[in-house]
Amino acid sequence: MVSSLDTHVGTERKVITDLPGPKSQALHARRKAVVSSGLSVGFPVYIDRAEGAIVVDVDGNQLLDLGSGIAVTGIGHAVPALVEAVSEQVARFTHTCFMVNPYESYVEVCEALSDLTPGTFAKTSALFNSGAEAIENAVKIARLATGKPAIIVFEHAYHGRTNLTMALTAKNMPYKDRFGPFAPEVYRVPMSYPFRDGLSGPDAAARAIKIIESEIGVHNVAAVLIEPIQGEGGFVVPADGFLPALSAWTSANGVVFIADEIQSGFARTGEWFAVNHEGVVPDLITTAKGLAGGMPLAGVTGRAELMNAVHEGGLGGTYGGNPVAAAASLATIQTIKDWNLLERATAIGETMRTTLEHLAKDVSIIGEVRGRGAMQAIELVEPGTKTPNAAAAKAILAFCQQQGVITLLCGTDGNVLRLLPPLIISDEQLADGLAVVSAGVRSVQ
Ligand SMILES: Cc1ncc(COP(=O)(O)O)c(C=O)c1O
Repeated sequence: MVSSLDTHVGTERKVITDLPGPKSQALHARRKAVVSSGLSVGFPVYIDRAEGAIVVDVDGNQLLDLGSGIAVTGIGHAVPALVEAVSEQVARFTHTCFMVNPYESYVEVCEALSDLTPGTFAKTSALFNSGAEAIENAVKIARLATGKPAIIVFEHAYHGRTNLTMALTAKNMPYKDRFGPFAPEVYRVPMSYPFRDGLSGPDAAARAIKIIESEIGVHNVAAVLIEPIQGEGGFVVPADGFLPALSAWTSANGVVFIADEIQSGFARTGEWFAVNHEGVVPDLITTAKGLAGGMPLAGVTGRAELMNAVHEGGLGGTYGGNPVAAAASLATIQTIKDWNLLERATAIGETMRTTLEHLAKDVSIIGEVRGRGAMQAIELVEPGTKTPNAAAAKAILAFCQQQGVITLLCGTDGNVLRLLPPLIISDEQLADGLAVVSAGVRSVQ
Protein backbone atom coordinates (compact mmCIF):
# COMPACT_ATOMS: atom_id res chain seq x y z
CA MET A 1 0.00 0.00 0.00
CA VAL A 2 2.74 2.37 1.01
CA SER A 3 5.07 1.60 -1.87
CA SER A 4 2.36 2.42 -4.40
CA LEU A 5 2.34 6.05 -3.26
CA ASP A 6 4.52 8.33 -5.35
CA THR A 7 6.40 9.77 -2.40
CA HIS A 8 9.97 8.71 -3.02
CA VAL A 9 12.44 11.53 -2.58
CA GLY A 10 16.21 11.62 -2.87
CA THR A 11 18.64 11.80 -0.01
CA GLU A 12 20.45 14.95 -1.11
CA ARG A 13 19.82 18.64 -0.69
CA LYS A 14 19.02 20.11 -4.09
CA VAL A 15 17.89 23.70 -4.70
CA ILE A 16 16.60 24.21 -8.25
CA THR A 17 14.73 27.54 -7.96
CA ASP A 18 15.11 30.71 -5.98
CA LEU A 19 13.58 30.10 -2.56
CA PRO A 20 10.67 30.43 -2.22
CA GLY A 21 10.04 29.16 -5.76
CA PRO A 22 7.19 30.29 -8.01
CA LYS A 23 4.65 27.70 -6.83
CA SER A 24 5.41 28.48 -3.19
CA GLN A 25 5.02 32.17 -3.92
CA ALA A 26 1.63 31.57 -5.52
CA LEU A 27 0.49 29.52 -2.51
CA HIS A 28 1.75 32.22 -0.20
CA ALA A 29 -0.36 34.81 -2.01
CA ARG A 30 -3.43 32.56 -1.56
CA ARG A 31 -2.57 32.09 2.09
CA LYS A 32 -2.46 35.82 2.73
CA ALA A 33 -6.09 36.14 1.66
CA VAL A 34 -7.46 33.48 4.00
CA VAL A 35 -4.99 32.60 6.78
CA SER A 36 -4.76 34.84 9.82
CA SER A 37 -1.68 37.01 9.77
CA GLY A 38 -1.34 36.18 13.48
CA LEU A 39 0.51 33.02 12.45
CA SER A 40 4.19 33.70 11.83
CA VAL A 41 5.96 32.78 8.61
CA GLY A 42 9.30 31.12 9.26
CA PHE A 43 10.12 30.15 5.68
CA PRO A 44 7.31 30.40 3.10
CA VAL A 45 8.36 27.33 1.15
CA TYR A 46 5.33 25.07 0.81
CA ILE A 47 5.95 21.37 1.32
CA ASP A 48 4.73 18.60 -0.92
CA ARG A 49 6.33 15.50 0.61
CA ALA A 50 9.24 14.38 2.77
CA GLU A 51 11.36 11.35 3.51
CA GLY A 52 14.06 10.79 6.10
CA ALA A 53 15.81 14.13 6.58
CA ILE A 54 14.75 15.60 3.23
CA VAL A 55 11.69 17.77 2.70
CA VAL A 56 10.54 18.44 -0.88
CA ASP A 57 8.72 21.65 -1.71
CA VAL A 58 6.04 22.22 -4.35
CA ASP A 59 8.69 23.52 -6.78
CA GLY A 60 10.77 20.34 -6.46
CA ASN A 61 13.48 21.78 -4.20
CA GLN A 62 14.91 19.23 -1.78
CA LEU A 63 15.57 20.83 1.58
CA LEU A 64 17.66 19.36 4.37
CA ASP A 65 15.66 19.35 7.59
CA LEU A 66 17.67 20.35 10.67
CA GLY A 67 14.54 21.34 12.60
CA SER A 68 12.29 18.23 12.58
CA GLY A 69 9.19 20.44 12.65
CA ILE A 70 10.39 21.77 16.03
CA ALA A 71 11.62 18.46 17.48
CA VAL A 72 8.64 16.39 16.33
CA THR A 73 9.78 14.11 13.50
CA GLY A 74 12.71 12.75 15.48
CA ILE A 75 12.56 9.40 13.72
CA GLY A 76 12.51 11.15 10.32
CA HIS A 77 9.83 11.76 7.74
CA ALA A 78 7.70 9.01 6.22
CA VAL A 79 9.35 6.23 8.18
CA PRO A 80 7.79 3.04 6.73
CA ALA A 81 6.86 1.55 10.12
CA LEU A 82 4.97 4.71 11.06
CA VAL A 83 3.31 5.09 7.67
CA GLU A 84 2.13 1.49 7.79
CA ALA A 85 0.88 1.70 11.39
CA VAL A 86 -1.03 4.91 10.70
CA SER A 87 -2.46 3.69 7.38
CA GLU A 88 -3.63 0.45 8.94
CA GLN A 89 -5.22 2.25 11.89
CA VAL A 90 -7.00 4.76 9.64
CA ALA A 91 -8.54 1.85 7.76
CA ARG A 92 -9.66 0.13 11.00
CA PHE A 93 -11.14 3.11 12.85
CA THR A 94 -10.16 6.73 13.34
CA HIS A 95 -12.07 7.69 16.44
CA THR A 96 -14.38 6.50 19.18
CA CYS A 97 -13.33 8.84 22.02
CA PHE A 98 -11.40 6.83 24.60
CA MET A 99 -13.87 7.85 27.30
CA VAL A 100 -16.82 6.49 25.28
CA ASN A 101 -15.34 3.29 23.85
CA PRO A 102 -11.75 2.50 24.80
CA TYR A 103 -9.17 0.71 22.64
CA GLU A 104 -5.92 -1.17 23.22
CA SER A 105 -3.42 1.22 21.61
CA TYR A 106 -4.17 3.96 24.19
CA VAL A 107 -3.39 1.48 26.97
CA GLU A 108 -0.25 0.35 25.14
CA VAL A 109 1.06 3.91 24.86
CA CYS A 110 0.47 4.38 28.60
CA GLU A 111 2.27 1.09 29.29
CA ALA A 112 5.21 2.33 27.21
CA LEU A 113 5.23 5.67 29.04
CA SER A 114 5.25 3.89 32.42
CA ASP A 115 8.10 1.76 31.22
CA LEU A 116 10.25 4.47 29.59
CA THR A 117 9.93 7.32 32.09
CA PRO A 118 12.30 7.35 35.06
CA GLY A 119 11.14 6.01 38.44
CA THR A 120 10.40 2.47 39.54
CA PHE A 121 7.21 3.41 41.42
CA ALA A 122 3.68 2.75 40.11
CA LYS A 123 2.78 5.24 37.37
CA THR A 124 -0.27 6.05 35.29
CA SER A 125 -0.75 8.37 32.31
CA ALA A 126 -3.41 10.41 30.56
CA LEU A 127 -3.17 11.33 26.88
CA PHE A 128 -3.99 14.64 25.19
CA ASN A 129 -3.54 16.42 21.85
CA SER A 130 -0.88 19.07 22.33
CA GLY A 131 1.94 19.98 24.61
CA ALA A 132 0.06 22.91 26.08
CA GLU A 133 -2.87 20.66 26.91
CA ALA A 134 -0.54 18.22 28.68
CA ILE A 135 0.93 21.07 30.72
CA GLU A 136 -2.54 22.37 31.64
CA ASN A 137 -3.47 18.91 32.87
CA ALA A 138 -0.24 18.39 34.79
CA VAL A 139 -0.99 21.63 36.64
CA LYS A 140 -4.59 20.52 37.31
CA ILE A 141 -3.35 17.22 38.72
CA ALA A 142 -0.66 18.81 40.90
CA ARG A 143 -3.10 21.34 42.34
CA LEU A 144 -5.78 18.76 43.06
CA ALA A 145 -3.35 16.24 44.53
CA THR A 146 -1.66 18.76 46.83
CA GLY A 147 -4.61 21.04 47.56
CA LYS A 148 -2.27 24.00 46.96
CA PRO A 149 -2.45 26.71 44.28
CA ALA A 150 1.01 28.10 43.42
CA ILE A 151 3.02 26.95 40.40
CA ILE A 152 6.70 27.86 40.16
CA VAL A 153 8.13 28.46 36.68
CA PHE A 154 11.42 29.84 35.42
CA GLU A 155 12.83 32.72 33.45
CA HIS A 156 13.00 31.93 29.71
CA ALA A 157 10.46 29.11 30.11
CA TYR A 158 8.11 28.12 27.29
CA HIS A 159 5.13 25.93 28.06
CA GLY A 160 2.56 26.87 25.39
CA ARG A 161 0.03 29.41 24.20
CA THR A 162 -3.28 28.59 25.94
CA ASN A 163 -4.33 30.97 28.69
CA LEU A 164 -2.75 29.06 31.55
CA THR A 165 0.35 28.14 29.55
CA MET A 166 0.81 31.76 28.43
CA ALA A 167 0.99 32.60 32.13
CA LEU A 168 3.60 29.86 32.56
CA THR A 169 5.62 30.99 29.53
CA ALA A 170 8.14 33.77 30.15
CA LYS A 171 8.57 35.70 26.91
CA ASN A 172 6.10 38.46 26.18
CA MET A 173 6.50 39.03 22.41
CA PRO A 174 5.09 37.35 20.46
CA TYR A 175 3.47 34.83 22.81
CA LYS A 176 1.66 36.93 25.42
CA ASP A 177 1.52 40.54 24.38
CA ARG A 178 -2.00 42.00 24.97
CA PHE A 179 -3.55 38.51 25.33
CA GLY A 180 -4.04 38.86 29.09
CA PRO A 181 -5.30 38.83 31.75
CA PHE A 182 -3.46 35.65 32.58
CA ALA A 183 -4.15 32.87 35.06
CA PRO A 184 -3.15 33.66 38.65
CA GLU A 185 -0.89 31.80 41.10
CA VAL A 186 2.03 31.48 38.71
CA TYR A 187 5.39 32.63 40.08
CA ARG A 188 8.61 33.01 38.08
CA VAL A 189 12.08 32.48 39.54
CA PRO A 190 15.56 32.67 37.98
CA MET A 191 16.75 29.78 35.82
CA SER A 192 20.26 28.38 35.92
CA TYR A 193 21.83 29.88 32.80
CA PRO A 194 25.57 29.24 33.18
CA PHE A 195 26.63 31.39 30.20
CA ARG A 196 24.89 34.42 31.70
CA ASP A 197 24.87 33.91 35.49
CA GLY A 198 28.13 32.02 36.00
CA LEU A 199 26.57 30.18 38.97
CA SER A 200 27.07 26.53 39.85
CA GLY A 201 23.95 24.36 39.70
CA PRO A 202 23.54 24.14 43.49
CA ASP A 203 24.04 27.92 43.88
CA ALA A 204 21.49 28.69 41.16
CA ALA A 205 19.04 26.28 42.79
CA ALA A 206 19.62 27.92 46.20
CA ARG A 207 18.87 31.31 44.62
CA ALA A 208 15.56 30.04 43.20
CA ILE A 209 14.59 28.19 46.40
CA LYS A 210 15.28 31.26 48.55
CA ILE A 211 12.82 33.26 46.44
CA ILE A 212 10.20 30.52 46.61
CA GLU A 213 10.51 30.23 50.38
CA SER A 214 10.61 33.94 51.15
CA GLU A 215 8.25 35.39 48.54
CA ILE A 216 5.72 32.61 47.89
CA GLY A 217 5.81 30.28 50.90
CA VAL A 218 6.34 26.53 50.64
CA HIS A 219 2.90 25.73 52.05
CA ASN A 220 1.33 27.48 49.03
CA VAL A 221 3.33 25.68 46.36
CA ALA A 222 1.73 22.84 44.39
CA ALA A 223 4.45 22.31 41.80
CA VAL A 224 7.76 23.31 40.34
CA LEU A 225 7.43 23.11 36.55
CA ILE A 226 10.66 23.10 34.54
CA GLU A 227 12.05 22.19 31.12
CA PRO A 228 15.19 20.15 31.91
CA ILE A 229 16.70 21.84 28.85
CA GLN A 230 14.82 24.94 27.81
CA GLY A 231 13.58 24.84 24.23
CA GLU A 232 12.09 28.07 22.93
CA GLY A 233 13.89 29.96 25.70
CA GLY A 234 17.27 29.32 24.06
CA PHE A 235 18.37 25.72 24.58
CA VAL A 236 19.51 26.70 28.05
CA VAL A 237 21.13 23.72 29.75
CA PRO A 238 21.15 24.31 33.50
CA ALA A 239 24.44 23.87 35.32
CA ASP A 240 25.07 20.37 36.68
CA GLY A 241 23.39 19.91 40.03
CA PHE A 242 20.61 22.47 39.46
CA LEU A 243 17.89 19.97 38.59
CA PRO A 244 18.91 17.46 41.31
CA ALA A 245 18.90 20.22 43.96
CA LEU A 246 15.46 21.44 42.90
CA SER A 247 14.14 17.91 42.77
CA ALA A 248 15.47 17.16 46.26
CA TRP A 249 13.86 20.33 47.59
CA THR A 250 10.47 19.45 46.08
CA SER A 251 10.61 15.94 47.60
CA ALA A 252 11.47 17.33 51.01
CA ASN A 253 8.64 19.88 50.89
CA GLY A 254 5.65 18.02 49.49
CA VAL A 255 5.88 19.88 46.17
CA VAL A 256 5.27 18.12 42.84
CA PHE A 257 8.26 18.21 40.47
CA ILE A 258 6.95 18.41 36.90
CA ALA A 259 9.48 17.95 34.09
CA ASP A 260 8.31 19.41 30.80
CA GLU A 261 10.03 17.03 28.38
CA ILE A 262 7.88 18.08 25.44
CA GLN A 263 10.87 19.29 23.41
CA SER A 264 13.75 17.49 25.12
CA GLY A 265 12.17 14.04 25.46
CA PHE A 266 11.94 10.94 23.30
CA ALA A 267 15.58 10.26 22.44
CA ARG A 268 16.38 13.83 21.38
CA THR A 269 19.24 14.27 23.87
CA GLY A 270 20.59 10.73 23.65
CA GLU A 271 18.43 9.53 26.55
CA TRP A 272 14.70 8.86 26.54
CA PHE A 273 14.37 11.97 28.70
CA ALA A 274 16.73 14.85 29.42
CA VAL A 275 16.31 14.39 33.20
CA ASN A 276 18.05 11.01 32.85
CA HIS A 277 21.38 12.77 32.24
CA GLU A 278 21.40 13.78 35.91
CA GLY A 279 19.45 10.89 37.38
CA VAL A 280 16.49 13.12 38.28
CA VAL A 281 13.17 11.35 38.81
CA PRO A 282 10.24 13.74 38.33
CA ASP A 283 6.85 13.19 39.96
CA LEU A 284 5.11 14.07 36.68
CA ILE A 285 6.49 14.23 33.13
CA THR A 286 4.78 15.93 30.20
CA THR A 287 5.47 14.63 26.70
CA ALA A 288 4.34 15.54 23.17
CA LYS A 289 6.22 16.35 19.92
CA GLY A 290 8.62 13.37 19.43
CA LEU A 291 6.17 11.06 21.21
CA ALA A 292 4.23 10.30 18.01
CA GLY A 293 6.49 11.19 15.08
CA GLY A 294 4.26 13.94 13.71
CA MET A 295 0.77 12.91 14.75
CA PRO A 296 -0.74 15.09 17.48
CA LEU A 297 -0.36 13.32 20.81
CA ALA A 298 0.70 14.41 24.27
CA GLY A 299 0.85 12.80 27.67
CA VAL A 300 1.11 13.35 31.38
CA THR A 301 2.81 10.46 33.16
CA GLY A 302 3.63 10.18 36.80
CA ARG A 303 3.22 8.79 40.26
CA ALA A 304 -0.01 6.82 40.41
CA GLU A 305 -1.01 8.41 43.71
CA LEU A 306 -0.93 11.88 42.09
CA MET A 307 -2.43 10.91 38.72
CA ASN A 308 -5.17 8.83 40.38
CA ALA A 309 -6.04 11.48 42.96
CA VAL A 310 -8.26 13.04 40.29
CA HIS A 311 -11.96 12.15 40.45
CA GLU A 312 -13.37 10.09 37.56
CA GLY A 313 -14.20 12.39 34.66
CA GLY A 314 -11.81 15.09 35.87
CA LEU A 315 -9.40 14.48 32.98
CA GLY A 316 -10.13 13.91 29.31
CA GLY A 317 -11.16 15.48 26.03
CA THR A 318 -12.75 14.39 22.75
CA TYR A 319 -9.60 13.53 20.82
CA GLY A 320 -6.95 12.89 23.49
CA GLY A 321 -5.08 9.68 22.72
CA ASN A 322 -6.73 9.39 19.32
CA PRO A 323 -6.19 5.87 17.90
CA VAL A 324 -4.28 7.05 14.82
CA ALA A 325 -1.94 9.14 16.95
CA ALA A 326 -1.57 6.23 19.40
CA ALA A 327 -0.63 3.89 16.52
CA ALA A 328 1.94 6.45 15.36
CA SER A 329 3.35 6.65 18.87
CA LEU A 330 3.78 2.89 19.20
CA ALA A 331 5.53 2.78 15.82
CA THR A 332 7.74 5.72 16.83
CA ILE A 333 8.79 4.09 20.10
CA GLN A 334 9.51 0.79 18.33
CA THR A 335 11.56 2.62 15.68
CA ILE A 336 13.63 4.42 18.31
CA LYS A 337 14.41 1.02 19.85
CA ASP A 338 14.96 -0.88 16.59
CA TRP A 339 17.27 1.75 15.12
CA ASN A 340 19.15 2.52 18.38
CA LEU A 341 18.26 6.17 18.05
CA LEU A 342 19.44 7.00 21.57
CA GLU A 343 22.98 6.12 20.53
CA ARG A 344 22.50 7.87 17.21
CA ALA A 345 21.35 11.07 18.96
CA THR A 346 24.50 10.99 21.07
CA ALA A 347 26.70 10.51 18.00
CA ILE A 348 24.91 13.30 16.11
CA GLY A 349 25.42 15.53 19.15
CA GLU A 350 29.14 14.82 19.24
CA THR A 351 29.52 15.65 15.54
CA MET A 352 27.52 18.86 15.87
CA ARG A 353 29.40 19.87 18.99
CA THR A 354 32.84 19.26 17.50
CA THR A 355 32.01 21.23 14.35
CA LEU A 356 30.35 24.12 16.17
CA GLU A 357 33.05 24.41 18.84
CA HIS A 358 35.71 24.43 16.15
CA LEU A 359 33.78 27.18 14.37
CA ALA A 360 33.35 29.14 17.62
CA LYS A 361 37.13 29.32 17.99
CA ASP A 362 37.40 31.03 14.59
CA VAL A 363 34.65 33.63 14.94
CA SER A 364 33.79 36.20 17.57
CA ILE A 365 29.97 36.13 17.32
CA ILE A 366 29.40 32.73 18.94
CA GLY A 367 29.10 33.31 22.67
CA GLU A 368 28.40 29.70 23.52
CA VAL A 369 27.79 26.30 21.94
CA ARG A 370 25.43 24.29 24.11
CA GLY A 371 22.93 21.47 24.24
CA ARG A 372 22.79 17.74 24.78
CA GLY A 373 22.75 15.07 22.09
CA ALA A 374 20.93 16.06 18.92
CA MET A 375 19.66 19.25 20.57
CA GLN A 376 22.46 21.77 20.03
CA ALA A 377 22.53 25.52 19.61
CA ILE A 378 24.82 28.49 19.20
CA GLU A 379 24.13 31.70 21.10
CA LEU A 380 25.03 34.68 18.91
CA VAL A 381 26.53 37.77 20.54
CA GLU A 382 27.99 41.09 19.48
CA PRO A 383 31.65 40.37 18.65
CA GLY A 384 33.67 39.60 21.73
CA THR A 385 30.86 40.45 24.20
CA LYS A 386 27.85 38.70 25.74
CA THR A 387 25.37 41.17 24.26
CA PRO A 388 22.67 39.23 22.40
CA ASN A 389 22.96 39.52 18.62
CA ALA A 390 19.56 38.70 17.15
CA ALA A 391 20.48 40.26 13.79
CA ALA A 392 23.32 37.75 13.34
CA ALA A 393 21.03 34.84 14.24
CA LYS A 394 18.44 35.99 11.71
CA ALA A 395 21.05 36.48 9.00
CA ILE A 396 22.48 32.98 9.53
CA LEU A 397 18.97 31.49 9.46
CA ALA A 398 18.24 33.32 6.19
CA PHE A 399 21.55 32.16 4.69
CA CYS A 400 20.75 28.55 5.56
CA GLN A 401 17.26 28.88 4.11
CA GLN A 402 18.60 30.18 0.81
CA GLN A 403 20.91 27.15 0.67
CA GLY A 404 17.99 24.81 1.35
CA VAL A 405 18.80 23.99 4.98
CA ILE A 406 16.04 24.33 7.56
CA THR A 407 17.21 25.58 10.96
CA LEU A 408 15.34 27.38 13.76
CA LEU A 409 15.82 30.34 16.07
CA CYS A 410 15.02 30.53 19.76
CA GLY A 411 15.96 32.48 22.87
CA THR A 412 14.28 35.22 24.84
CA ASP A 413 16.36 37.67 22.80
CA GLY A 414 15.95 35.74 19.54
CA ASN A 415 19.72 35.31 19.28
CA VAL A 416 20.07 31.54 19.44
CA LEU A 417 20.28 29.31 16.37
CA ARG A 418 19.16 25.79 17.21
CA LEU A 419 19.64 22.50 15.42
CA LEU A 420 17.23 19.59 15.88
CA PRO A 421 17.98 17.16 13.07
CA PRO A 422 15.96 14.01 12.67
CA LEU A 423 17.87 11.21 14.36
CA ILE A 424 18.00 9.15 11.17
CA ILE A 425 20.01 11.84 9.38
CA SER A 426 23.00 10.28 7.59
CA ASP A 427 26.59 11.33 8.35
CA GLU A 428 26.79 12.85 4.84
CA GLN A 429 23.59 14.85 5.30
CA LEU A 430 24.72 16.07 8.72
CA ALA A 431 28.12 17.12 7.38
CA ASP A 432 26.41 18.93 4.51
CA GLY A 433 24.04 20.76 6.87
CA LEU A 434 26.82 21.73 9.27
CA ALA A 435 28.94 23.02 6.38
CA VAL A 436 26.07 25.31 5.39
CA VAL A 437 25.53 26.50 8.97
CA SER A 438 29.28 27.18 9.30
CA ALA A 439 29.32 29.12 6.02
CA GLY A 440 26.31 31.08 7.27
CA VAL A 441 28.11 32.02 10.50
CA ARG A 442 31.25 33.02 8.60
CA SER A 443 29.19 35.09 6.16
CA VAL A 444 27.88 37.37 8.93
CA GLN A 445 31.02 37.39 11.04
C1 LIG B 1 8.94 22.64 26.33
C2 LIG B 1 7.62 22.86 25.66
N1 LIG B 1 6.50 22.80 26.38
C3 LIG B 1 5.29 22.98 25.82
C4 LIG B 1 5.16 23.26 24.48
C5 LIG B 1 3.80 23.45 23.88
O1 LIG B 1 3.51 22.40 23.03
P1 LIG B 1 2.38 22.54 21.91
O2 LIG B 1 2.90 23.52 20.90
O3 LIG B 1 2.21 21.16 21.35
O4 LIG B 1 1.16 23.04 22.60
C6 LIG B 1 6.31 23.34 23.69
C7 LIG B 1 6.23 23.66 22.27
O5 LIG B 1 7.15 24.12 21.64
C8 LIG B 1 7.57 23.14 24.30
O6 LIG B 1 8.71 23.22 23.59
